[in-house]
Amino acid sequence: MPAVRGLEATDGEQTAAVLELLHAEPLVSGERISERLGISRAAVWKHVEQLRAAGYRIDARRAGGYRLLGNPDRLLPREITRRLATERLGRRIVHWEETDSTNVQAARLAREGAPEGTLVVAERQTRGKGRLGRTWISPPHVNLYASFVLRPTVAPADAPQIGLAAAIAVARALEPLAPGQVAIKWPNDCLLDGRKVAGLLTEMSAELDRVHWVVLGIGVNLNSGTRAFSPEVRRTATSVRLATGHRVDRVAFTASLCGEIESVYDRLLVRGFSSLVDDWQAYSCLSGREVTVDCGGRRITGRVRGLDASGHLVVDGAEGEERIVAGDVSVVGGYAHTAGAR
Ligand code: BTN
Repeated sequence: MPAVRGLEATDGEQTAAVLELLHAEPLVSGERISERLGISRAAVWKHVEQLRAAGYRIDARRAGGYRLLGNPDRLLPREITRRLATERLGRRIVHWEETDSTNVQAARLAREGAPEGTLVVAERQTRGKGRLGRTWISPPHVNLYASFVLRPTVAPADAPQIGLAAAIAVARALEPLAPGQVAIKWPNDCLLDGRKVAGLLTEMSAELDRVHWVVLGIGVNLNSGTRAFSPEVRRTATSVRLATGHRVDRVAFTASLCGEIESVYDRLLVRGFSSLVDDWQAYSCLSGREVTVDCGGRRITGRVRGLDASGHLVVDGAEGEERIVAGDVSVVGGYAHTAGAR
């Protein structure tokens, strides 16, 4: 039963309540909506028109009533919220049709005091940011561009573990869509069949011993086609649709991702990163591979042993064992042989 009734509810609340009834019942008469919400039949019609203008497909029959045929393909907060099973993550959602970067917007909200779990999503980014100063290609209405505001009680030096843990969450959210095809490449790229499908960018504000906030930015190529990528990028990047042939319900994916992130994030805070290492390794496409790691000026070549309890990549290099804190990894000979490696 919708919580709002009649004239005390705002116009937006009434529209949301009409939508809730349409979601709850396959076919509902105008009279029933009008009685349940305490508004006139003309007002019901006005709200149905508003929903249609927002992209909802609603069939209206004089005798039969209203039938919801389809939701708009937009990351609308009320649609994500309907599917959420989280306590904190995604409980406040800010939706942009277009913005420069969801990370920039989330950082602004974090500075203004936004609560932990605040989620910023955009249909399109004009200046999507990738790692190491790269650009994240962000075409409209096909993918997920999302940033969470987090306020973790961790030491600043351990903050990169949030990105590593989140990569497990992204892999888990992707797994049902592409079973057996998902892999993680350190530090936090997600691959489908050896091509990058998702990337994470964590940014933070901290003092020497205290984190003020972390913005966890996640870009997932869900439904983009080949034309979204330049010929050069096409060799190394993909989308779920390109890899599987199936379109992804972006709203359902976003809600599922929120749940997976909350689960790994809570575990990280309560039990530490060491409790997640095995889950991470299960998805890693690098274990045992010969790699070159670019560590900002220094290049290390060697065989990957795995991940240590702090999230550092352990490589057997020419000068012995190396524990790498940050860097860019290339697999010697490419990824073709790592497809579905787990
Ligand atoms: C990478 O280079 O792999 C990281 C890419 C991160 C892209 C996401 S899209 C949502 C959020 N907003 C941004 O500007 N970047 C991140």
